[in-house]
Amino acid sequence: VSDRIEVTAAGGAYPVLVEPGLARRLAGLLPSDRAALVIADANTAELLGTDLADRLGAPLFELPAGEASKTLAWVERACSAAAAAGLDRDALIVAVGGGVVGDLAGVVAATYLRGVGLVHVPTTLLAQVDSAIGGKAAVNLPEGKNLVGAFKPPEAVYVDPELLAGLPEREFRSGLAEVAKYALIADSRLFDLLRENSGAVVARTMDLMTAIIARCCEIKAGVVSRDEREDGERAILNYGHTVGHALETALGYGVMTHGEAISVGMEVAARLGLAAGVTPADLPARQGDLLRAFGLPLAPATAPATVGVEALLRVISRDKKARAGEVRWVLLDRLGHATAGHRIDPAVVGEVLAGSLP
Ligand SMILES: NC(=O)c1ccc[n+]([C@@H]2O[C@H](COP(=O)([O-])OP(=O)(O)OC[C@H]3O[C@@H](n4cnc5c(N)ncnc54)[C@H](O)[C@@H]3O)[C@@H](O)[C@H]2O)c1
Ligand SMILES: [Zn+2]
Repeated sequence: VSDRIEVTAAGGAYPVLVEPGLARRLAGLLPSDRAALVIADANTAELLGTDLADRLGAPLFELPAGEASKTLAWVERACSAAAAAGLDRDALIVAVGGGVVGDLAGVVAATYLRGVGLVHVPTTLLAQVDSAIGGKAAVNLPEGKNLVGAFKPPEAVYVDPELLAGLPEREFRSGLAEVAKYALIADSRLFDLLRENSGAVVARTMDLMTAIIARCCEIKAGVVSRDEREDGERAILNYGHTVGHALETALGYGVMTHGEAISVGMEVAARLGLAAGVTPADLPARQGDLLRAFGLPLAPATAPATVGVEALLRVISRDKKARAGEVRWVLLDRLGHATAGHRIDPAVVGEVLAGSLP
């Protein structure tokens, strides 16, 4: 089985290939006449990066695993490695890893020599269904997440679901939050498939996961092809992310995973949608059932002072995506369909948040 999905971008179209075992034949798929630099973190170097670099005869640049490496300092080191290896404008950056490696490699590929080629080999579920597609790349500043970056569409994305076999359980479930999100905002049939097979999903059954990953890639590819720069439709991908991001910020990164935070964010968004008269009455419970089946939380486990309602509201109004301090919400208007741009009375938001926190 192999799925080939086409993404349209301003700089040209690129394919997303989804196929179990693809990583093993990757060296033969990449152009042999172009210099390359493989970027991986400590875990993904061992998983694939070192072997791929050997086969390509390319140098490997390795960073420490984790969000703390997504900085300009590591971009500079990777660019120095590219320069030391004599990479020219025709060269290719090959990102082997999760969203951290993909984002960092994207910034390197966008800026080294004012831009070289980029190929994504995503190795986490989140990266396979989300961050490797769509061309957004950014690194963090001490002042906040993803504040410096560029649009850098890759030349190709190679997705091998077999790479997920050794992904830590919490990372896998975190990726399932994004999978659930795609079903909720764009595909009620995918929702039914996930709900009816949640046990097999959690057990990472290969055929099923391949089909699910391919469908999620197709949904994201469709959305970003129609709206690359997020002038409109792309905003629906932020379902659950307004409160999710606020939770991550308020708790400090690393307390909840991104997926856990947006799972809670989707629960709040469903209740908000209900309060606003946009979301059908049965939807919050149906969504909650799926998230629970994936082992995801509907509320933060602990509520230190930093995630009180007031603190969360303050962080939410500072969100990068708020225009002039006014928050626009993404809400479900039915199962498998979302709309963006909803304004909700802050008093209502406060009430719903108060009812959603422990
Ligand atoms: N550019 C975008 O559009 C976009 C979208 C969503 C998220 N992101 C970014 O993605 C980042 C999060 O990505 P992530 O969740 O993939 O985290 P990550 O890249 O830190 O990977 C999570 C952990 O899993 C390990 N790992 C990766 N693949 C593995 C494998 N196959 N087997 C075993 N271990 C493996 C990593 O080494 C790391 O320790 C955030 O920085 C976020 O901002 C970007
Ligand atoms: Zn997300």
